[in-house]
Amino acid sequence: MIPTQDILLQTFIKEHRDHGFDLELLKTVSEQFDLELDGDHGVYHWHRVYKNTLILAKHYNIASQVFMLFALFHDSRRANEGIDPMHGKRGAKYARSLQKSNKILNALSTSDFSLLEYACSSHTKIDRENPLVDERIAQICWDADRLDIGRVGFVVDPTYLSTGYAKEVCMMRKKI
Ligand SMILES: [Fe+2]
Repeated sequence: MIPTQDILLQTFIKEHRDHGFDLELLKTVSEQFDLELDGDHGVYHWHRVYKNTLILAKHYNIASQVFMLFALFHDSRRANEGIDPMHGKRGAKYARSLQKSNKILNALSTSDFSLLEYACSSHTKIDRENPLVDERIAQICWDADRLDIGRVGFVVDPTYLSTGYAKEVCMMRKKI
């Protein structure tokens, strides 16, 4: 790993240490990432997505390890910065592949792992047939990602947001 990437990761972990972020897992995911770590779908984006999940989760009074893991894995297997419809499913599969070797993933309950896999797999196109579609944790993950779409030049469209509070946040940010 080149030094600048190491500094990037250390900065990331410093801000999120109190929220249970795991530096080793962050490093593992970063080292296999095929794109630029400081690119549109890299570590700055993961950082902002995680911050957004915390804002939404606080409003709904939900605490879950799924938020941190979604931030790390949802774009982890992207093959390019553009259209890559299967990357969410690959990210979910990658998380599953690390389950036995990582203590946080290994400690995740069966239901939370299913939520993580569903949230990652459906984050670009929601599978509405899945029985977890109304789960608030998955909805927060998707909205947290969508609230960061401004980085690639798009305006957040509230109709694509799943939670009422994300729509409020979207409107508040537009006024700033
Ligand atoms: Fe993303």
